[in-house]
Amino acid sequence: MSTEAHLVIGANGAIGRALVKELAINAPEYRVYAVARQHTHKTSAENVRYITLDTANEDAVASWVSEQRKEKVRFKTVVCTAGILHGEYEQRALQPEKKIEDVSSANLMAYFAVNTVVPALWLKALITMMAPQQGSITCLSARVGSIEDNQLGGWYGYRASKAALNMIIKTAAVEYRRRSKQTVLVSYHPGTVDSALSEPFQKNVPQGKLFTAPFTASQLLRYLNGAAVADNPHYVDWKHQPIAW
Ligand SMILES: NC(=O)c1ccc[n+]([C@@H]2O[C@H](COP(=O)([O-])OP(=O)(O)OC[C@H]3O[C@@H](n4cnc5c(N)ncnc54)[C@H](OP(=O)(O)O)[C@@H]3O)[C@@H](O)[C@H]2O)c1
Repeated sequence: MSTEAHLVIGANGAIGRALVKELAINAPEYRVYAVARQHTHKTSAENVRYITLDTANEDAVASWVSEQRKEKVRFKTVVCTAGILHGEYEQRALQPEKKIEDVSSANLMAYFAVNTVVPALWLKALITMMAPQQGSITCLSARVGSIEDNQLGGWYGYRASKAALNMIIKTAAVEYRRRSKQTVLVSYHPGTVDSALSEPFQKNVPQGKLFTAPFTASQLLRYLNGAAVADNPHYVDWKHQPIAW
């Protein structure tokens, strides 16, 4: 008999931590695996298992998932929160580009490595690991990843890496439809959420539109409660409105 569990990848970020808490409280009967490169905040919930793992390392991901397979764990709700917009990546400072002259090979690689490759590795590792009844995999994307919706320009690397993530999800949906039929796939825009990632860009956010991470976690889980596999893949925002790909 298999054990069903929830999984948060990137569980030490603001949204990741809030998701772990909310999943642990909502469904105490399920184990919640909180996977992150390090854990600086932990809840006291007994059903949370904290796993320290380089979520971007293909071998480490494959090996951890294979251990879960041996333990007969299957996943119900999976959320991959990995994302980078600014800060440090491999000892280099990263800033979203304001103009095309700011584009650099190293920065583009950094955006793609985190925003596109990490979720792709997990979509790969999990295709045979989902619960037989309906489950879901959500990747935190962003509205700026919409090709159709791009009015403002700028942020080349972040936009392009989230657009590429959306394409990975669209492509995976074709295969999941055959190989993991009951898995809802979601590309999710959480709105602007108070976190380290949004912190330098919060001053222009209209009043009432800077969301807390707990609000974001509950909005996402509410969406997942009603999301249908027939509508795969979903690309939606925090109001549960569809976004043009
Ligand atoms: N905050 C917003 O306003 C906003 C808006 C739109 C979309 N989003 C998206 O929402 C997601 C979560 O963001 P957040 O607001 O919670 O930001 P955050 O607190 O900065 O969390 C960032 C997450 O990305 C992971 N990460 C960062 N660098 C990484 C690396 N080199 N390798 C692997 N993982 C890495 C972290 O993983 P660890 O847990 O392992 O540290 C963490 O879970 C991101 O994908 C972001 O693009 C956020």
